[in-house]
Amino acid sequence: MHLIPFILAALILSLAQPLLATELATNFTKDYTGSEGVVSFNHQTHADQLKDCAFCHNNLKSFGGIVDEEFGHKFCRACHMTHENIPTDCKSCHKRK
Ligand code: HEC
Ligand code: HEC
Ligand code: HEC
Repeated sequence: MHLIPFILAALILSLAQPLLATELATNFTKDYTGSEGVVSFNHQTHADQLKDCAFCHNNLKSFGGIVDEEFGHKFCRACHMTHENIPTDCKSCHKRK
């Protein structure tokens, strides 16, 4: 008797999973164009590497929700600085065409 709600819940979950996955598509690249050129942010690479979604998204919120110079340097670049193998010079992010 108690199995029926369980089976229903499992069925609903299995149907909802692919829907959630497509709603939260993370495999995109965003280009931010400013006076220094274009900063191309590969979202998928970062999501794969860091796995923790909330870490970036909470920080983005606390910086006002906009990828601007302050966020780009105090958050994006700050993290790169802590990794020895990621270049942190201006041109590693700002590309001129
Ligand atoms: C390295 C930081 C970082 C990580 C890790 C990260 N995100 Fe993001 N995410 C961003 C940034 C930056 C944007 C673009 C924000 C903008 O330009 O408005 C973004 C945008 C998004 C968007 C699109 C929102 C829109 O603009 O419509 C979704 C959905 C999203 N992220 C989901 C996720 C999920 C789910 C994960 C974990 C699997 C994740 N993110 C991990 C930084 C990150
Ligand atoms: C918490 C750490 C962290 C944050 C925050 C972060 N990055 Fe990165 N970033 C990485 C790592 C790790 C790599 C190396 C990924 C690889 O090559 O596999 C990387 C690589 C890059 C690269 C090199 C090419 C690429 O996409 O793989 C660019 C450009 C870049 N990040 C831009 C940004 C921008 C713009 C932001 C902010 C919107 C940002 N990153 C935020 C850790 C971070
Ligand atoms: C980790 C990536 C990253 C690195 C490294 C980086 N920046 Fe940025 N920068 C950004 C992001 C993201 C923005 C916001 C989007 C934009 O304006 O292009 C930005 C914005 C700017 C802006 C404002 C441009 C505008 O018109 O809004 C200037 C100026 C700037 N950066 C200069 C520099 C200089 C100089 C260096 C080297 C000392 C540097 N950046 C290194 C990511 C980076």
